[in-house]
Amino acid sequence: MPNVAALMERSLPRHILDALRSASAVASQEPGIVSELYLVGGMVRDLVRGEGSADIDLSVVGDGPGYAAALASHLGGQVTKVSEFGTATVETGSLSIDVATARTETYEHPGALPEVTPAGITEDLARRDFTVNAMAIDLSNGGWGELIDPHGGMADLMMKRLRSLHPASFADDPTRALRAVRYEARLAFTLQPATVNDMQRDCVHFDAVSPARVLAELRRILDETARTRALSRAEELGILGSISPAFRIAGRSLKAIEETPDREPLFHVALIGARLTQAEAASLIERIDPPADWREALGAGSTYREIASILERSDLRPSEIAELLEGFPVLALEAQLQLAPATRQKAALRSWLDELRFREPLLSGNDLLEAGVPQGPLIGQLLDELRRARLDRAVGTRDDELTLVKRRLRVLL
Ligand code: CTP
Repeated sequence: MPNVAALMERSLPRHILDALRSASAVASQEPGIVSELYLVGGMVRDLVRGEGSADIDLSVVGDGPGYAAALASHLGGQVTKVSEFGTATVETGSLSIDVATARTETYEHPGALPEVTPAGITEDLARRDFTVNAMAIDLSNGGWGELIDPHGGMADLMMKRLRSLHPASFADDPTRALRAVRYEARLAFTLQPATVNDMQRDCVHFDAVSPARVLAELRRILDETARTRALSRAEELGILGSISPAFRIAGRSLKAIEETPDREPLFHVALIGARLTQAEAASLIERIDPPADWREALGAGSTYREIASILERSDLRPSEIAELLEGFPVLALEAQLQLAPATRQKAALRSWLDELRFREPLLSGNDLLEAGVPQGPLIGQLLDELRRARLDRAVGTRDDELTLVKRRLRVLL
């Protein structure tokens, strides 16, 4: 196996290399806890590709959490997130290091959480998702820099192939289908036909995956720069439909996601929601159980479409536009603006978002009290009327507003 010590020296940022050296030193000081120590996961893959990677994943043959505690005290950091699977995270302030006990995983049924048993590095690599993610670099004193690549990850990296390790990989963990399109898009690799077959056959097991796990993988896709490609592949390969039969992303929404690379993930969620029917949004929400802001963004599309045709009317006053649009989350309307063809509807959306929603009366509730309006619901009603009058430019100055209030009081009191 090749030794990549020189490559690590040359490519890894100094603070990461120092952390790995410290990790190695701690391992040799703690032979009772650790017998072998490896760098695994994305950092190995990205090092070989010549790309930077922020996450340090360590695999420990021995006691992962015990080793994490020793490493944290050596680095002056803290152990967080110890899990039942023998994993722990060491946070140092500038670095986050994931430590896992090398293990085998067995799944009681497809999609179940794994039963884990401590094991050697070979077994630990064999339980992983894709060959390019199943390489390790030895960090022990005696073997520093040795690359361990039992599944041909290096060759696949060179050939830009994304390949799972065994046919049952997606039955073990269907969320790997979402990881597959994410890596394929991010790395510009090609999913191998056998892997696609296995994936499509076993996507039915998404049924057994919890909403939280699906949602977490969707979030990771939306965080990618290459999100549009990953989402369109997920649609094309039938992965979205396996998550929920109602989950589809309209072509126009995908295009709009592509056109807005710098917008926040929630905006892209709103673009997906913008073209869903009420029933589609409701069943997707039920399936992934997202937080309130996602629910709003996904659900607003169908309600908006009920009023969209009214926005095409040529005789709408600004106050009527306000009445139609003020209940919607701003982000959902921004998504509709991104999607709308250049019609009156688009102009109405733009004027509401850019200007009308900020137009407030000059008079306050206190001004109305001073003008003789009795305390109570009338204040709110008159402020609302003033706002509408201001939207329609029926009033300009404070005096105009006072005149309107007095005129209305004569009628109302
Ligand atoms: N892994 C896996 N199956 C999963 C999740 C993770 O086999 N469902 C393995 C992969 O070997 C992966 C490693 O665990 O490389 C670490 O997982 P994660 O942190 O999610 O991936 P990274 O490759 O480190 O990071 P990223 O995907 O963001 O590049």
